[in-house]
Amino acid sequence: MPAPEAAIVLDGLRKSFGTKNALDDLTLEMPAGQVFGLLGPNGAGKTTAVRIITTLLAPDAGRVLVDGTDVTVDPGRVRRSIGVSGQYAAVDDKLTGFENLYLVAKLYGMRRHRAATIARDMLDRFHLGDVADQLTCTYSGGMRRRLDLAGALVASPAVVVLDEPTTGLDPQSRLDTWDVIGELVREGTTVLLTTQYLEEADQLADRIAVIDHGTVVAEGTSDQLKAATGGHRLEVVTAHDTDLATAYRVLAAIGTTPSVDRRARRVEVAVTDGQRALETAVIRLNTERVPVLDLGLRRATLDDVFLGLTGSAPARTAHTDPDQTAVLPAVPHWPTQSGALDRREASA
Ligand SMILES: Nc1ncnc2c1ncn2[C@@H]1O[C@H](COP(=O)(O)OP(=O)(O)O)[C@@H](O)[C@H]1O
Ligand SMILES: [Mg+2]
Repeated sequence: MPAPEAAIVLDGLRKSFGTKNALDDLTLEMPAGQVFGLLGPNGAGKTTAVRIITTLLAPDAGRVLVDGTDVTVDPGRVRRSIGVSGQYAAVDDKLTGFENLYLVAKLYGMRRHRAATIARDMLDRFHLGDVADQLTCTYSGGMRRRLDLAGALVASPAVVVLDEPTTGLDPQSRLDTWDVIGELVREGTTVLLTTQYLEEADQLADRIAVIDHGTVVAEGTSDQLKAATGGHRLEVVTAHDTDLATAYRVLAAIGTTPSVDRRARRVEVAVTDGQRALETAVIRLNTERVPVLDLGLRRATLDDVFLGLTGSAPARTAHTDPDQTAVLPAVPHWPTQSGALDRREASA
């Protein structure tokens, strides 16, 4: 039985698309009132998991509980307790920023006056007050993303699901988004955040699950994950190319599976007892007469964790495409099936 304080429980989730297993026995518990980071490379299954959690997609097998409610038994109830913001901003271009949020508020069943007040409040909170009455087709990628995020929060949901909320954002918008997420948690909201960015998970998430090929490859706090890969990394840069092989042999005897960067003449190894490893390395490199240019010990980063577990380098925030946001919505806001809203009502 899941612990009662779990806000989202995934139990043996499976989903295939044709022969492709997008989710392969995905099992996770996400505690209430925290940020849970679902970290994984492109194609790992993050969005598929999000779509199942938000009732947009049925799993082939397994169970999902949101605040104790099974998504397949009572999807309506799940939708009412959840706010979703997708990787591709669910923003209607033919409406203004205000109208977009007003529409969402009305769909959540709010009366006109309340919906308008909330819409204005959210626009101010997300620094969109000045452009509230402009059509969103004039918004930048970052502005659209902020509007989308605001939409997810309109109904003050207990659980907020953010699917790659900062992918494609410029650095300032990314920092703004991080602020908003931090604020949510102070208010006690449970946040499920998917990301390809290590630093994002490291900064924001209380717990992190690294997933790859639709299954969990590691789970824990950022510190636990770092410790699991050895806690520290020991690095040696040799003065000459010819000493690289000896340095490798020395480090291989101290830690597990060193990696080598030949051009940089650097050998690196994961170690559990950093202090001791460093002392041993100094002695052995000296005995083997290896001239050392650099010798150092550093704490393992989430990069090391990710690389060690998935064998691929994590995404870097540097090369992202701001225009990526201007794509059709993959995950719309809830609820969407309540019917169309008369635009005249929105401007009333
Ligand atoms: N509707 C779909 N049809 C076919 N394949 C899909 C579909 N959705 C996702 N996939 C595949 O499932 C895998 C997981 O995708 P996804 O959940 O979008 O990963 P992520 O969000 O982590 O990048 C990928 O290989 C993707 O190509
Ligand atoms: Mg995705």
